[in-house]
Amino acid sequence: MILSALLLASSAAAVPLARSFSSTLAGLPGGTKKLTFDAHGDFKVVSFSDMHFGEGEEVTWGPEQDRNTSIVHANILDNEKPDYVVFNGDLVTGENVFAFNATKYLDQVFAPTVVRAIPFSSTHGNHDNSLAITHQEEIEYEQAHYSSLSHTRSDVGPKPYGSGNYWVPVYATTTDCVPALIMWFFDSRSFVSGHPGGTGPTPPDANFYWVDEKTVPQYITQQRELMDRVWKTVPPALVFVHIPVQKADILAPLPSVGNHDDEPDPATQGFLNDTYTGLDLPFWDALVALDGGRGTVLAVTSGHDHGESWCARARASAGLPICFNGHSGYGGYVTTHSMVRNARVFGLALHDLAGRVPVVRTWNSYENSTVNDEVVLGPEYMVPLA
Ligand SMILES: *[C@@H]1O[C@H](CO)[C@@H](O)[C@H](O)[C@H]1NC(C)=O
Ligand SMILES: *[C@@H]1O[C@H](CO)[C@@H](O)[C@H](O)[C@H]1NC(C)=O
Ligand SMILES: *[C@@H]1O[C@H](CO)[C@@H](O)[C@H](O)[C@H]1NC(C)=O
Ligand SMILES: *[C@@H]1O[C@H](CO)[C@@H](O)[C@H](O)[C@H]1NC(C)=O
Repeated sequence: MILSALLLASSAAAVPLARSFSSTLAGLPGGTKKLTFDAHGDFKVVSFSDMHFGEGEEVTWGPEQDRNTSIVHANILDNEKPDYVVFNGDLVTGENVFAFNATKYLDQVFAPTVVRAIPFSSTHGNHDNSLAITHQEEIEYEQAHYSSLSHTRSDVGPKPYGSGNYWVPVYATTTDCVPALIMWFFDSRSFVSGHPGGTGPTPPDANFYWVDEKTVPQYITQQRELMDRVWKTVPPALVFVHIPVQKADILAPLPSVGNHDDEPDPATQGFLNDTYTGLDLPFWDALVALDGGRGTVLAVTSGHDHGESWCARARASAGLPICFNGHSGYGGYVTTHSMVRNARVFGLALHDLAGRVPVVRTWNSYENSTVNDEVVLGPEYMVPLA
């Protein structure tokens, strides 16, 4: 309330945090091309996660594994022909790579998307922070080398381990000024120590398994207030963050299509030494406020738990659908039902977003060209769980 009043009174420097990020709408298109729905009113997003490039590069299976991951991406991109690709964290297994060439793995991560000239952006995972690489280094490398296709930014959040927080607008047509959709990206931090990246203690400012509670909730609130003020609406939102919010633990036992190999507890945000701290809740509460009970947060999608590829929604998640990515890489651990690698796909349509309560179709798309687990996320999806 106070924030809102201050913003209305003066858009500049009204919030103490304003110095750490622009006090204007941070995601308005700059150098990158404005993203739009196609002539049929469709916009398709393919989300890959947990690629884990760079494992075992000194032995034959390492490079072979990475080549396999590139084939997974190529097959799924050719089958789905998306308008946008999201790399939802754990792009690289940071504890297995050398610092001197760690960011070079990003060329392999992005190659199938780049050769197809598909715009993209990234979130970063616990394995993207190590003694050999950090989220900030990956973000800067992506911006320096892929500026014509990448929309990844760093608007707010602690550097270098938790700075990948930003949003990207998608417009109905090139002449629109108010976006039809906002894709939000958040940085759930965390760190993996190991060899050959180097052994050593986890740096004190890296040992957090949740989106920074000190800067990001205020950023979300400020941007939401600005959207409402400038556009007279807060557009429907797709949210991507690598480590799932703790509410996923509550939804996991509900029956939902998709894999349940790897139920998340305690591999969710907010845990420290297997004890739940509740420190992911400021971020979660800011997402609930973004939704505002209007059903406009279409999905909050995470990777991290490779054997999970479901979507669920209940009162316990304030009606926000929580989705899992599955597993898009040959790197990282596999579970019984995550052997065939996949991506999560969102099929957005302007007419689905224009209803009183917007809905979105989502499904899993596999390297073997199978598609399954399609659901429509919206008010009709799933039973209530108090
Ligand atoms: C690469 O993929 C092939 C075909 O799926 C598989 O047989 C092989 O084991 C994979 N190699 C590695 C290192 O994962
Ligand atoms: C990084 O260097 C190691 C050691 O020389 C090498 O095995 C690996 O292929 C290199 N990785 C990249 C992505 O260039
Ligand atoms: C977590 O556990 C580690 C290892 O047992 C210990 O060194 C550290 O102090 C613990 N941290 C907290 C916040 O309890
Ligand atoms: C492809 O993999 C999926 C997921 O494991 C499986 O359900 C489907 O039967 C497979 N399709 C083919 C044609 O093998």
